[in-house]
Amino acid sequence: MGSLDFFQRFLITSLFLITGCNCEEPVLAKDMKFKLHSGDLMPLVGFGTYQIRGTELIRDVLDHALAAGYRLIDTAKVYRNEEDIGKALKELLPKYNLTRQDIFITTKLSPNDQGEKAYDALQESLRKLDCGYIDLYLIHWPGAYGVNASKVNNSALRAESWKQMVKGVKDGLTRNIGVSNYLVRHLKELSANDFGIKPAVNQVEWHPRNRPSDLLEYCNQEGILLQAYSSLGGTDNNDLLKNADVDKIAKKLGKSPAQILLRWPLQQNIAIIPKARSKKHIDDNIDLNFVIPDEDMAILSGFSQNRYAWNPETVV
Ligand SMILES: NC(=O)c1ccc[n+]([C@@H]2O[C@H](COP(=O)([O-])OP(=O)(O)OC[C@H]3O[C@@H](n4cnc5c(N)ncnc54)[C@H](OP(=O)(O)O)[C@@H]3O)[C@@H](O)[C@H]2O)c1
Repeated sequence: MGSLDFFQRFLITSLFLITGCNCEEPVLAKDMKFKLHSGDLMPLVGFGTYQIRGTELIRDVLDHALAAGYRLIDTAKVYRNEEDIGKALKELLPKYNLTRQDIFITTKLSPNDQGEKAYDALQESLRKLDCGYIDLYLIHWPGAYGVNASKVNNSALRAESWKQMVKGVKDGLTRNIGVSNYLVRHLKELSANDFGIKPAVNQVEWHPRNRPSDLLEYCNQEGILLQAYSSLGGTDNNDLLKNADVDKIAKKLGKSPAQILLRWPLQQNIAIIPKARSKKHIDDNIDLNFVIPDEDMAILSGFSQNRYAWNPETVV
């Protein structure tokens, strides 16, 4: 797929997001969407739920998130909150006059379930979420739990996972499938053996201190949506939120440092899934209807590199 076609798939965002031009009605961040290979529209701004656990806490944060306008929820088997998310949505969707179709739910295959177990794991996540179908199911990590990262067996296991997930699409368990933490070489390997379905999304650590340009270029060229995680630096890490350059740009634009860190990927057509517990943070993180000038985008794209999360370079 040519990159022009790819950018046309940001159909709802095109004028405002790509050019910053406000010559048509600007699209609010909460309404920005990307058209996946399947034709489904995926919100570019979603809500991350890593380390948010417990029935009441999940219900409260999702209540705030739905009220603020988030329509994508990102979870994973390893977050151990799928069941509570399913319960909360049953209660909350009617409150906001929403149906299942208005919400986009992503969950992920645990590294523990790579290989033939992937189909059963998908069914188990669906049972816990109790939501009819999953919108997007991702291979959480290119490696398998219990297999040394340097062993080629990781490659065979993730290929088998993909085969099982393709079956999951055909059986209606999930509408789209994708990957997470894949490098270009992992994506190329998958593209050579994709059992008829290309990955829709690659969810990766992406922030000013980790922005592998080869990965973004490859994903754009292949029509794979890049979705950023740990855009704010992750839990209990102020390296980016307290950075002097981020703070200066925030003050200049009258925004918070978090809003700068979230608008920066969005303005590069990269999806985001910030995680927050407080209502104030939840509201701020979707209030991204402004443009960062080119010179400030360049400053953010010039930070020295320092990854915070797990490193897929180690996985064969
Ligand atoms: N695929 C993967 O391997 C992978 C890995 C990591 C994460 N993820 C996904 O990506 C999501 C986001 O990443 P993340 O959870 O690592 O971290 P993150 O979104 O970068 O940061 C979350 C931290 O930032 C704080 N925060 C949120 N909004 C803020 C604001 N406006 N101002 C100041 N601080 C703010 C939060 O505090 P409060 O909670 O106190 O508000 C929390 O401590 C996860 O929840 C998960 O869904 C995926």
